[in-house]
Amino acid sequence: MPSNVIVGLQWGDEGKGKITDLFSKNSDYVIRYQGGNNSGHSIHIKNNYFILHLIPSGVIYPYVKCIIGPGVVIDPKYLIQEIKNLKLMDINTSKVFISKRAHITMPYHRLLDQYQEEFLEDQSIGTTHRGIGPTYEDKIARIGIQVLDFLNPKNFYKKLKFNIDLKNKIITKIYKKTAISFDTIYQEYIEYAKYISDRIIDAVYDIHNAFKNKKKILFEGAQAMLLDINYGTYPYVSTSSASTGGVCVGSGIPPSFLTNFIGIAKAYCTRVGYGPFPTEIVENEVGNLIRKKGNEYGTTTKRPRRCGWLDLIALKYSCMINGINYLIITKLDVLSQLKIIKICVKYRFYGKIIQYFPAKIEKDIECIYIDFPGWEEDISHICEYEDLPKNCKKYVKFIEEYLKLKILLISVGSERNQNIIKNKSSFLKIFS
Ligand code: GDP
Ligand code: IMO
Ligand code: MG
Repeated sequence: MPSNVIVGLQWGDEGKGKITDLFSKNSDYVIRYQGGNNSGHSIHIKNNYFILHLIPSGVIYPYVKCIIGPGVVIDPKYLIQEIKNLKLMDINTSKVFISKRAHITMPYHRLLDQYQEEFLEDQSIGTTHRGIGPTYEDKIARIGIQVLDFLNPKNFYKKLKFNIDLKNKIITKIYKKTAISFDTIYQEYIEYAKYISDRIIDAVYDIHNAFKNKKKILFEGAQAMLLDINYGTYPYVSTSSASTGGVCVGSGIPPSFLTNFIGIAKAYCTRVGYGPFPTEIVENEVGNLIRKKGNEYGTTTKRPRRCGWLDLIALKYSCMINGINYLIITKLDVLSQLKIIKICVKYRFYGKIIQYFPAKIEKDIECIYIDFPGWEEDISHICEYEDLPKNCKKYVKFIEEYLKLKILLISVGSERNQNIIKNKSSFLKIFS
């Protein structure tokens, strides 16, 4: 049985939530393998908007088993809130499970995230302040608290005590802030532990059994390629392996289990937070128009997203690292009514024309664009590729030719059904 991986190919918010929901209909399992509640994945069904931060976007279908996998970092406070919000919207959460091996984000992680950002001043990353980086730091330092520690209050007490003693030294002596209270946090988290204890499973065996039993499995990436800790625009990245390589590490399966690598890119680019963004449209009417039409405001932090033109050098790099065999383009509808639409095809870098994505992007990188004439028509109601305006098809065709990849699906609106299936036979193959 083929397994599908969905990953973002830019700087996040490409529409992974919408596409995961679409593919979930025909999945038995949807698994998150990295990141934490720095993510915000939106699903729009008729008049309902669901925003998921930790729970996999398969949850809308009651028959889908949703696993928050071993490579994820979990803030129980926010997870519980998310479960309660879904219940209020009549969504069945009984099939949401949590890996024993996942690490727990504690209040001190959130504080340390914020204090480090303040300390960095003009070099700050623009994190979500959700404590994701500090949680992964503790994991690597081998002092992290895993979900399995929740099952053992004695162990949890001991680990938490050690961590709070250590963190209080950093908080008070380095950052000169107020110490946090062990007793308050311990009492609060013991209650959270009770709330989620029924959902804790040994996800590694569960996932392997699912493969053995030929279940349809979908891995849902969070963040995106250019925010990947190893291959993104370091240091302006998140702290996990967001690329397809992270699936094996974050869910305990061998690479040979994976079949379809589905990459999602917007028809333009956006970025929240700081860091290089070669095609950014700065202080310009067009950039503001894209932000407004695309509703480009952070799902998690509500910050306005920086907007820019499609960068095909970056996208080709992402497809290469991720081994993408199916491409999905989202938000093409947002580009309607622009007179000219630009695509970056080369960079000028230190006086040289280059066509690769540099390991470090300096501020003065210059983009070389091809201009495409826009189209007037609203395309958000279109369901067949042939019905798209001529100039719109030219834009899409150029992307395919440059990347040497066929586009599987084009999303033309946030609603679940606003899709153009471009490559019907491949779609049926993946979707059956
Ligand atoms: P994710 O983090 O990749 O899941 O993406 P987000 O949910 O954070 O951001 C994508 C936003 O675009 C959400 O508000 C979606 O509802 C919306 N969206 C997704 N696809 C489309 C599309 O094709 N057109 C438009 N206009 N909006 C879309
Ligand atoms: P989804 O899954 C967009 C960005 C932050 C910041 C950087 C580091 O919704 O696509 P962090 O809090 O992770 O240490 O912040 O990464 N970032 C995202 N940007 N979408 C996301 O997730 C993001 N998750 C983190 O804005 O620039
Ligand atoms: Mg998002």
